[in-house]
Amino acid sequence: MNMRTHWDHIYTSRASREVSWYQPHAARSLALIQRIAGGQPCRVIDVGGGASTLVDDLLEQGLFDVSVLDISVAALSVARERLGARANQVQWLAGDITQLELPAQAYDIWHDRAVFHFLTKPAQRAAYVAQVRHAVRPGGHVIVATFAADGPTQCSGLPVVRYTPEKLHDEFGDAFELIESLEERHQTPNGVVQPFIYCHCVMR
Ligand SMILES: C[S@@+](CC[C@H](N)C(=O)[O-])C[C@H]1O[C@@H](n2cnc3c(N)ncnc32)[C@H](O)[C@@H]1O
Repeated sequence: MNMRTHWDHIYTSRASREVSWYQPHAARSLALIQRIAGGQPCRVIDVGGGASTLVDDLLEQGLFDVSVLDISVAALSVARERLGARANQVQWLAGDITQLELPAQAYDIWHDRAVFHFLTKPAQRAAYVAQVRHAVRPGGHVIVATFAADGPTQCSGLPVVRYTPEKLHDEFGDAFELIESLEERHQTPNGVVQPFIYCHCVMR
């Protein structure tokens, strides 16, 4: 099964509120993005946004030009249907983040919660970082959240790489300045606690 089929199957066979990564609101991400934006208009891309409600909350602020990218068309459909007419305000991008062609320097803020950790091969991670360097403007912000070093070893039946903030920053390299890292203990809809880390870097 290829990755698109895998994720489409998940989003068509389970309600978006039942998946382990579900958050009613992506509060940690939203707070970081709002703080970075500082009340100014910003172009934000949510990479592997899936059916996350982050896009709803960003649109609510009226400040953000939002793009949502995901490998699963089914995931994007869930978010689009939930948003109704407001979906027209969003750029929806379907594809694999390691392969898709994105516009150059098109985003002020890059956000990824729980996608980078699925890239288990060094070549995939290198392609992802090259994509960030191409698509984020110089001086732009990069927020990446992954399972922490003591987090789960798998998600949705797929193996993941777990990170400390230092290990995650190492993947991105010196072109990125680590501004801050945060921890979160995410509670799944089944009540299981999953430790996450969030890294916020600025691209030099
Ligand atoms: C664990 S979910 C997280 C969804 C969302 N970020 C959230 O926090 O609710 C991982 C998401 O990444 C997407 N995904 C996985 N691999 C991807 C890839 N290579 N390129 C783009 N999206 C990918 C999946 O379809 C899924 O929606």
